This record gives sequence, structure tokens and C-alpha cells, in this order.
Amino acid sequence: MSLISARTSKVMANSEFEAPAEEDVNRLIQAAILARDHAYAPHSHFYVGAAVLLHDGRIIGGCNVENASYSLTQCAERVAVTTSVATGYRSFRAVAIASVGGAMPCGACRQVLAEFGMDVYVYTIDVIDGEQQVRRLSELLPDAFLTSDIPSS
Ligand code: THU
Repeated sequence: MSLISARTSKVMANSEFEAPAEEDVNRLIQAAILARDHAYAPHSHFYVGAAVLLHDGRIIGGCNVENASYSLTQCAERVAVTTSVATGYRSFRAVAIASVGGAMPCGACRQVLAEFGMDVYVYTIDVIDGEQQVRRLSELLPDAFLTSDIPSS
């Protein structure tokens, strides 16, 4: 069992669904790395690729898209999520994020992912040394604000 699989099974306890198979995780990570090639980051030069894995095995990618008006910048994870939703797919099983250093998703991206389920697996990959990490979204965003917190929902 690879290191990533061992870690994944460790965080599987109490999950609603199991971690993706190693083959799917590898496909997902490769998709995130490939998506990073399209990153538009002339301001920060921090290039990020992301990809979401759907429960049907489909994979959809995204990259960060910066803007001269900095606050309009879109993170890679949110581009992947919104592209997927706009294509008709929002049953997310996992997301992978590729960057130099293997950064974890920012708070805004965690919140956007939370909209579609707290059990999603989050994989990060450092494109320099290949180091991978895995978390559950529920670990990354405890006590999340969710639709169920809105009284009228
Ligand atoms: N970025 C992402 O794409 N995802 C994150 O979770 C954190 C930050 C991007 C946004 C911006 O283009 C660059 O990284 C520097 O913040």
C-alpha cells in the first residue's frame, strides 16, 4: 500500500463514502497537474491546478485565473467546481490541488466545496517533489456554515 493509501484509509473512519481507489487518485492528481499548465497567474506567479473527481469517475479540471484587479482572481479549485457544476455534475468525491509546495485550499475554496458535501477527500500535490497529502473537507473546515444553518432552508 502506498503512503497516500495508508493515510487515506486512516481518515476513512466515520465517512459517508470511501476514499477513491488509488488508480482514481492517481488519475485525479495527474489531471490537476495538467490543469496547472493552463494557470493564468501573471501577478503572483503562483500557478495552481485543480481537478474534481465525481462519484461516476468523471474528472473535471480548473486552474487559477488572475486579474489586474486582484480581488477578481479565481482560485483553481473554484474554477474546477464551477465548471463541473455548470456542466451538470456536482456529486463530488474528491478534489486534487497541484502547486509548488502543495498548498492546502484557501478558506474561500473550502467554503465553496462545503456547499456540495463535507466528506469530499482533498488531495494536495507538491509539483516539485511529488509529496502528496490527503484530508477530509470536514477536517479542513470544522463547524462549517451550511445551507442547514439558514432557518428558511
Ligand atoms: N490560489 C488558488 O488557486 N487556490 C487556493 O486555494 C489558494 C490560492 C491562487 C489564487 C492566486 O491566483 C494565487 O493562488 C496566489 O494567491
